[in-house]
Amino acid sequence: MTDIERVGVVGCGQMGAGIAEVCARAGLDVMVAETTGEALEIGRTRLYNSLSRAAQRGKISQEEFDSTQARLSFTTDLGEFADRDLVIEAVVENEQVKTEIFQVLDQVVTRQDAILASNTSSIPLVKLAVATSRPDHVIGIHFFNPAPVQKLVELIPALTTSEGTVARTQSMVEKVLGKHAIHAQDRSGFVVNALLIPYLLSAIRMFESGIASREDIDNGMELGCAHPMGPLKLSDLIGLDTVASVADSMYAEYKEPLYAAPPLLQRMVDAGRLGRKTGSGFYAYA
Ligand SMILES: NC(=O)c1ccc[n+]([C@@H]2O[C@H](COP(=O)([O-])OP(=O)(O)OC[C@H]3O[C@@H](n4cnc5c(N)ncnc54)[C@H](O)[C@@H]3O)[C@@H](O)[C@H]2O)c1
Repeated sequence: MTDIERVGVVGCGQMGAGIAEVCARAGLDVMVAETTGEALEIGRTRLYNSLSRAAQRGKISQEEFDSTQARLSFTTDLGEFADRDLVIEAVVENEQVKTEIFQVLDQVVTRQDAILASNTSSIPLVKLAVATSRPDHVIGIHFFNPAPVQKLVELIPALTTSEGTVARTQSMVEKVLGKHAIHAQDRSGFVVNALLIPYLLSAIRMFESGIASREDIDNGMELGCAHPMGPLKLSDLIGLDTVASVADSMYAEYKEPLYAAPPLLQRMVDAGRLGRKTGSGFYAYA
């Protein structure tokens, strides 16, 4: 259906693991890279547990569970990405780390029209594109959390991205992965975070200033506006480090006070209370 069969995913945190699962369940050959053997083991377990839950809930058959696992491979060496048709980078939201990965991918991926994509929430795609010798083949593919569940993907071409790359990416995302794609310009926050992040920051400011308890803030939006999850719970799910990084990027881009991370958010990140992934954020997790 498309010319993309072999996918590489860099980073196997909550997003990388979910993206790898989506691609493998869609029938693609998926190789996942992490920094260390330990991080790889944690990521592999995260992916395996998510797949097992899908099987237990009857969303995939035992046969699909086995074949999906067989299509997944794991490495700590990006050099093994040489034969990939598409690479999706999903490492920490840090411009320097991502830039270095794009430089390495540019060296190792041999197919010259391979697509090099980033799942970044806020870093300008053009900065990653110009770190490579093929800026016309770099694009943002922004999945939502959890990737196997959320239907939406934002496609973000850099100023340098070719129309052909956009069309091939959209075709793959919709026809192979079964997602709904929307398009956004390469501006920090794209569409969804530009609307969502100021709302989450407002909830954190409201909690910080003592206007209401965390439960009342979350219940307010769940029971009053039919949101499936209140803003403090959602911040914990996204990861407070990611919320703060995205807010910082948006503030750097627009200099608007509504994008400025409140001090409490910064202190919680400093304390390592990053939400669900560390077991503690606005709430405690087992
Ligand atoms: N959390 C969300 O809700 C969400 C939603 C959409 C997009 N994103 C974006 O996805 C990206 C990843 O976010 P996350 O929530 O999965 O973070 P995470 O902290 O759960 O995972 C990041 C992973 O990257 C790995 N990593 C770091 N440097 C690496 C390297 N050089 N090579 C390979 N792996 C490396 C880490 O070991 C870690 O496992 C970020 O750019 C974030 O902005 C996050």
